[in-house]
Amino acid sequence: MNAAEPLLQVEELTAGYGELQVLNGVSLTVERGEFVTVIGANGAGKSTLLRAIMGLIPARGRIRWQGADLLAQPPYRRAALDIAYVPEGRRVFPSLSVEENLVVGLQATRRDPATAIEEVYALFPRLRERRRQSGDALWRGTADARDGPRDGARPAAAGG
Ligand SMILES: Nc1ncnc2c1ncn2[C@@H]1O[C@H](COP(=O)(O)OP(=O)(O)O)[C@@H](O)[C@H]1O
Ligand SMILES: [Mg+2]
Repeated sequence: MNAAEPLLQVEELTAGYGELQVLNGVSLTVERGEFVTVIGANGAGKSTLLRAIMGLIPARGRIRWQGADLLAQPPYRRAALDIAYVPEGRRVFPSLSVEENLVVGLQATRRDPATAIEEVYALFPRLRERRRQSGDALWRGTADARDGPRDGARPAAAGG
């Protein structure tokens, strides 16, 4: 890897599901310190692009991380390079505590878990309050903020 290279470079990426080709030659570059946002209609292929970058679906083209070829690397190796994919929906482990869910998510990285978790709590203070609650408090917490008592959360539970 070479720090002078872009952090992430995607070139002519092609991917899909069986017969369905969703990505038809997608190219983008993310420089160090830069945020890149992908916008598009529902079903346009945003999640498919992220899955392909994470290695969760097969893809053709080129994906480079600081110049190193990622395309042949399995997802756990990409995760070890600090590439992360946050799936939509409520993909938490309900039988683990909120904090244990965060620790699980950090397993593949080289980061010090205590430092990384402090950063998460600084960003999302309510997670610290709920750290010993079961994992489903994670999505209940965000459902409170986003949707109030809708989104399946009972008002009595949403207060917790
Ligand atoms: N697991 C899957 N199997 C088959 N087709 C899928 C699958 N996931 C998504 N698709 C299809 O791929 C296309 C892109 O979907 P997706 O990447 O989820 O779009 P977006 O995230 O932009 O809303 C859609 O036509 C969708 O129906
Ligand atoms: Mg999506």
